[in-house]
Amino acid sequence: MKNALVVTLTLVAAVVVMIACNQSGSEEAALLESYRLKGDSISTTAQQTIFRSLTRAVDTGGLVYAVDFCSNNAMRITDSLSQLAGSTIQRLSNRNRNPANRLAEEGDRVIWEHFNSHTDGNVDDTLIHTNDSYTYYKPIRIAMPACLNCHGKKDKDLDPLVAEVIAGKYPNDLATGYQMNDLRGIWKITFRKSPPAK
Ligand code: HEC
Repeated sequence: MKNALVVTLTLVAAVVVMIACNQSGSEEAALLESYRLKGDSISTTAQQTIFRSLTRAVDTGGLVYAVDFCSNNAMRITDSLSQLAGSTIQRLSNRNRNPANRLAEEGDRVIWEHFNSHTDGNVDDTLIHTNDSYTYYKPIRIAMPACLNCHGKKDKDLDPLVAEVIAGKYPNDLATGYQMNDLRGIWKITFRKSPPAK
């Protein structure tokens, strides 16, 4: 009789633990989804802001001026959006133009391979959870012919003057030779967890 009670209690305890686990599992899933949505929204805003500025610069002064403008402002735009969003916003690439935008961490390179092996567009974004941060990644593809003016094949798509200005500003430029739909870069949005209270 006593044994039966112990078994019953143990079973009840096990069920309670399972329910508790499920609950915290779904809370965790909701938290991850909230960071994914935040990352998506921040990267979309950043993309639109950079693209609008770039288009305005091309309209104002042509492509050569726009290279100059982009070189002076792209990082400023992501940095100031970072401050607003309380996260770190980066545009990285395996063939980067700005040396600051290289795939510096092993995790970045793994994600790059992941996106690069899914060229069908079925992989949209991903969120990585580590002990100290949530990191959101989204692919940046060559989605419109205008990108090729500065990232296409040097002898075919780039105006010689544009190529010259780019070479002057970025002597180690790797970011040409692309075609439509190629993976050009990744958005990386890092949300750091607050340090534990002391
Ligand atoms: C007028 C020339 C120009 C056009 C058009 C242009 N870019 Fe760029 N792109 C640049 C320059 C210059 C940089 C380096 C900016 C910097 O110094 O941070 C850059 C950097 C980038 C980066 C960051 C990684 C790296 O290589 O440093 C990505 C991603 C990118 N461009 C994607 C695109 C996409 C996608 C398009 C089309 C929607 C596009 N660019 C159109 C000039 C251009």
